[in-house]
This record gives sequence, structure tokens and C-alpha cells, in this order.
Amino acid sequence: MRRIAVLASGGGSNLQAILDHLAALGAAAPAAVTLVVSDRADGYALERARARGVVAAHLPRSAPDDALERLLDEHRCDLVVLAGYLRLVPEPVVRRWSGRMLNIHPALLPAFGGHGMYGHRVHEAVLAAGVRLSGATVHFVNEQFDRGAIVAQWPVPVRPDDTVETLAQRVLAVEHRLYPWCVEAVARGDVRLDDDGHVHGSLPYAFPRFAVEGPRHPFVPDE
Ligand code: GRF
Repeated sequence: MRRIAVLASGGGSNLQAILDHLAALGAAAPAAVTLVVSDRADGYALERARARGVVAAHLPRSAPDDALERLLDEHRCDLVVLAGYLRLVPEPVVRRWSGRMLNIHPALLPAFGGHGMYGHRVHEAVLAAGVRLSGATVHFVNEQFDRGAIVAQWPVPVRPDDTVETLAQRVLAVEHRLYPWCVEAVARGDVRLDDDGHVHGSLPYAFPRFAVEGPRHPFVPDE
């Protein structure tokens, strides 16, 4: 059983989706979330962790540089999953967990990513650019913001009457479907980052089929 640490600064709805997905797999789950870390003591992600009996650690901004690595070592974490974590992950951690650290971004990378592009700023930029398509991207984490190798993407239409809130909500619903699948696939070893810097393997068949055809609309998951 692989051990996952989820790092989350915000509400933790992606954390919840991952917890629910792995719980639904029961004994077939290849991994379990064993640690949740937040830089905010009042972050709701920590509440969600405690509610599932998962260790919830508050890592204050004043913590020493190596505090995160020590925490991950203490809990013997195999995989690190960033889910709305707004702190920079120290380079030694990024290097050690290379190929074992994932992030989700609420747009179709490499567009609308990079330093300072997080939260509503991403959707503001998407609306300002007038693009008709946004989406969610799951990628391995490397030293550059939002530039690690892409594991999977799921497109979401941008509607003419969209606001930042409506677009964010539509993308978030997709994130909740996409991220758990990716976490499971990487935990199983079905998808991996090879030495050549490329992602190899594939997500389970049901996923691309669902993503392409969709239940009702090509790009929007069922409610
Ligand atoms: C998501 O939109 C994710 O793409 C981004 O941060 C947000 C986290 O939301 N990295 P939540 O805390 O999982 O609800």
C-alpha cells in the first residue's frame, strides 16, 4: 500500500475527492492518504483529514526549510499530491519526489500557468483572453511552476456568459473526476515519469472513454 501525502492550503475539495475515490476502491485501493499538510492552521483540508482519521499537520510559514521533508520522511510518504498548495515546495523535496509528486492546475497547461497563476487569477486570465476552451491539467511537479510533464487533461468549455465563479465551478467539478483517477494510476504504477522526462503508460480505459464521449455533453461530467 503506497502512502500519500496531500498538501493543501485551501478548502481541500480535491483532497476530499481523492479520499472518497480511494475509500470507494476498498481493498483494491493501491494507496491511502496517510498525511495531510496545510500551511494554514484553519485550512478546511485539515478538518477533512481529521474526519477520516488521517494525520493533519499544520506547517506554518515560519517553519524551517527542511520541515516539510522531515514530515514526509516521518510518515514514509511515497507520493506527494499537491491540491491547492500555495507554498513553494523546497527544491530538495521536488528532486527527491521527482516522478512521485503531482499537481493539478485549473486550466489547460502550458497556457495560463506559471508564477502567480493560481486560484481565480487563472480563470480571470482565461476570460480576459477570450479563449473558448479551458480545463484541468494534472502534471508531475518539477522545479518550474506548472511546467512538469503532463499526465492528463480534461477540457471544459468557456461559455459566453461565464464569470470567474461559474467557470471555476465547472473546472473544479472536472478536477474532482480527473485527479483521483490520476493519483490512482500513478500509485499503481500504470502511469510513470521516465528518465527521458516523458510520461509513459496510460490511464485506465474507462477514463479516456469517459473524457472523450462524456455522459451528456462531450466536455462536462455528469452532475
Ligand atoms: C483547485 O482549483 C486546483 O486546481 C488548484 O487549487 C484549487 C484547490 O481547490 N491547484 P480545493 O482546495 O481542492 O477545493
